[in-house]
Amino acid sequence: MTVVAGDRSPLAVAVSPNGRFCVSANYTSDSVTLVDLQKGETVSEHPCGRGPSDVVWMDDRTALVCLQHEDAVAVLKIEGARISIDKRIAVGDEPSAIVMSPTRDEPRAFVAVSGTDEVAVLDLSEQVVEQRIAVGQQPCSLALSPNGRWLVTACSLGGEVFVHDAISYKSHSRRVLLDDTGNLGVVAILPDSSACIVPHIVNRTFPVNIENIEKGWVIDNRLSKLPLPTGEEWNQAQLGLDKRGDAVGDAYAAAVSPDGEWLLVTCGGTHELLVFRQPTIPWPPADPGDFIPDELLSDDDRFRRLELGGRPLGVEFIDGRTAIVANYLLNALQVVDVAKVSIVRTIRLGGPVQPNLERRGETIFYDADRSLNSWFSCHTCHPEGHTSGLTFDTLNDRSYSTQKLTPSLRGVVHTAPWTWQGWQQDLHAAVRQSLTSTMQGRQPPTNEDAEALVAFLSTLEHFENPHLAGDGQLTRAARRGKQLFESKAGCAKCHRGPHFTTPEAFDVGLGLSPTDSKEHNPPSLRGLYSRRRFLHDGRARTLQQVINRHHRPEDIGGESLTGEELQDLIAYLRSI
Ligand code: HEC
Ligand code: HEC
Repeated sequence: MTVVAGDRSPLAVAVSPNGRFCVSANYTSDSVTLVDLQKGETVSEHPCGRGPSDVVWMDDRTALVCLQHEDAVAVLKIEGARISIDKRIAVGDEPSAIVMSPTRDEPRAFVAVSGTDEVAVLDLSEQVVEQRIAVGQQPCSLALSPNGRWLVTACSLGGEVFVHDAISYKSHSRRVLLDDTGNLGVVAILPDSSACIVPHIVNRTFPVNIENIEKGWVIDNRLSKLPLPTGEEWNQAQLGLDKRGDAVGDAYAAAVSPDGEWLLVTCGGTHELLVFRQPTIPWPPADPGDFIPDELLSDDDRFRRLELGGRPLGVEFIDGRTAIVANYLLNALQVVDVAKVSIVRTIRLGGPVQPNLERRGETIFYDADRSLNSWFSCHTCHPEGHTSGLTFDTLNDRSYSTQKLTPSLRGVVHTAPWTWQGWQQDLHAAVRQSLTSTMQGRQPPTNEDAEALVAFLSTLEHFENPHLAGDGQLTRAARRGKQLFESKAGCAKCHRGPHFTTPEAFDVGLGLSPTDSKEHNPPSLRGLYSRRRFLHDGRARTLQQVINRHHRPEDIGGESLTGEELQDLIAYLRSI
């Protein structure tokens, strides 16, 4: 028996077609667990490869698992209690979600490939990628309409939802939910295939201060309902989820019961499950305002909040009235009686009894109760320690009325000083400031809180770069770009060393508004390929825009480059 150790951190759970078993994707232990749902017990656990992020059943004896850090999907054979890995199919950079296609005679699966903004169609008989469908930035969840016709893809950056024909793979429609929408979660589709429901946040863009947080003017949590297949604007509706004084943090996944009676939404930040009687939801015809409608709050029969603890994420119905939730921080699955709004059973997957310092930091990072009235957590702006790609006017930078792009925190412990202006020399002080000033938390951070958060931040490293050649070396174009970077273009003066930064701040001519600082600290250039917005106010949407328009070599001490040289330079920047 192979031993699996450490925190399990399940992200997703899938119930077998016959309803007897479920499999969880245990993200931090690189394993899957098979659970007998009738007995309510784990049957076995098996290592599956690095970063299992989603799981789906193909039939009662086969399941497919996305491996985010191996750029592959593993095919699992399940015979009795025995799990074995049959095959791995390479799918592309950072697969994040998977669903089975409805055409069962020729089994196909769709995989959201978040690193390259595509959906891969897997031919499961041949075990190869048959086709790639281009979608928006960072596809994070997929859903198929019960009538088998539509594939819905939600993209977490940019707030876009795509609808494709699930048989011909042709694009049908593309909808942007609203400006400044982000962190799209797991989509649910109504049983009659008429509409999909997407959880997400809305960045209201007001300065991050007490008054605006209390009014719901900083970050709102919402559901959007889009008619299928068109997503027509006039027919879209949004529902606010937050209660005044007691908001909902980090709505993550939606699920609808097979009869359409119940809608569930997990909220990782406030450790709860929202239970709606779906047909009675009063979808507002226009702007949803800042809060959840009073008529829901005052009617227990239509809406309830169930405290689950930990960080509830993936959720699936087992039958018409029972659902199962993957709880990341509890290292457990929770079976919920939806009609009674109660936890029936907690199935522990393993893991340490006492969390270590890093895990305590991770718990704070995902905890919306650390913010005023629980509207958001560190994760809301820095999803999984990366970036939401949204800009905020946080007031920790001694300037007012300046929107700043949320930086990725991957590799952050190596890149002192911190903040765009580079005035912050101490990472412990930086995280305290985030807790007190950005989050306006009522619980004063202890020394141990700051220690724990920094310990967690030190675990956030860059992912393997997908733009390197097969042998892990630079491609030829990138090698030429490296030459230019270090000589003619003059970039290494400010971006150097293993993290491509320097401790000083420079005026590179980008602090334009009167309230904005003129000087900025060169951001680390590692992991540029995984970011979709650039520069301190997020003004550039591509690396081409950075280098050709805002940050041209000839304006910052280098020589101007030819078109071909610029392309080589960008090839290098993507490989860092
Ligand atoms: C409302 C969105 C938001 C929330 C919530 C938030 N941050 Fe940030 N964070 C930002 C923005 C915007 C910046 C850039 C600020 C600046 O440069 O002045 C930033 C900067 C940082 C930095 C400096 C990074 C660097 O490379 O310079 C760290 C570290 C950080 N945040 C950690 C945290 C932690 C820990 C939490 C939770 C306690 C948190 N943040 C909560 C938006 C947010
Ligand atoms: C004089 C110092 C300096 C030089 C030289 C320099 N940079 Fe920068 N770089 C900066 C600063 C400061 C910023 C942040 C500016 C801002 O956000 O307003 C930056 C930002 C960037 C960004 C955006 C990163 C992000 O995460 O948003 C990229 C990409 C970049 N530089 C690449 C280059 C390249 C390529 C060169 C060479 C052609 C170069 N830089 C030369 C100082 C420099």
